[in-house]
Amino acid sequence: MKKNYDVPMIDIHNHILFGVDDGAQDLRTSLEMIDIAHEDGIRGLILTPHCHPHRGMSSYEKILSHFEELKKVASAQFPDMNLYLGREVYFRSDVLEEVEGMDALQMCGNKIALIEFSSNVQPSYIKSSIADVQMQGLIPIVAHVERYACTIEDKSIVEEFSDMGAFIQINADDLVGNVKHEMKKVVKYLLKNDLVDFVASDAHDTERRRPLLSDAYRYIAKKYGEDYAYDLMYANPMRIIEDKL
Ligand SMILES: [Fe+2]
Repeated sequence: MKKNYDVPMIDIHNHILFGVDDGAQDLRTSLEMIDIAHEDGIRGLILTPHCHPHRGMSSYEKILSHFEELKKVASAQFPDMNLYLGREVYFRSDVLEEVEGMDALQMCGNKIALIEFSSNVQPSYIKSSIADVQMQGLIPIVAHVERYACTIEDKSIVEEFSDMGAFIQINADDLVGNVKHEMKKVVKYLLKNDLVDFVASDAHDTERRRPLLSDAYRYIAKKYGEDYAYDLMYANPMRIIEDKL
């Protein structure tokens, strides 16, 4: 059995909350995913259901009720696991008109939004979206920045997003999983240049896309330093929870 890591890692991006998007479909799967995360050494999960025209547009009311239900059952089975509610927002300028207010978009009730785009998005669109989100009074986190064609083509544009005040998240699997070499090249470039703020699982299930961070933690600690791994998978996630970004 894999030894849990000493640091109580926090996963800020996953689809563990059941029945609200293309992640876990039932409560049992949510609990199995939490078990996998717990076994991996994760002690905090910010659940981020999709707000996406094809992957999940559940009402905020439903999301809240499933969250309360899961929290209740999970706290009995995993008393040292902390669950928080966030959202992964597929960004369009009119997204606020589609949801029930700003609360439905925020991370942990704070003015922070995890935003994603289509894979063929243009850099100029990402930049104008970052500005839009900031205009709404929210701090943007760009989800899995290594997965867009434009960042694969030109890794250095991520620095421009960062300079605008956006925070940058990469997927653990794109560093240590079985993925295209080009995505690995992007995440390694970003890590080397200190351009990453969060590493998260983006887990969707118990098989192919699982909630695991410890391999990425070990890899980053060894290659880029223990402090960086600690920041990306514990200290920075805590800043979301404590509203200190
Ligand atoms: Fe996601």
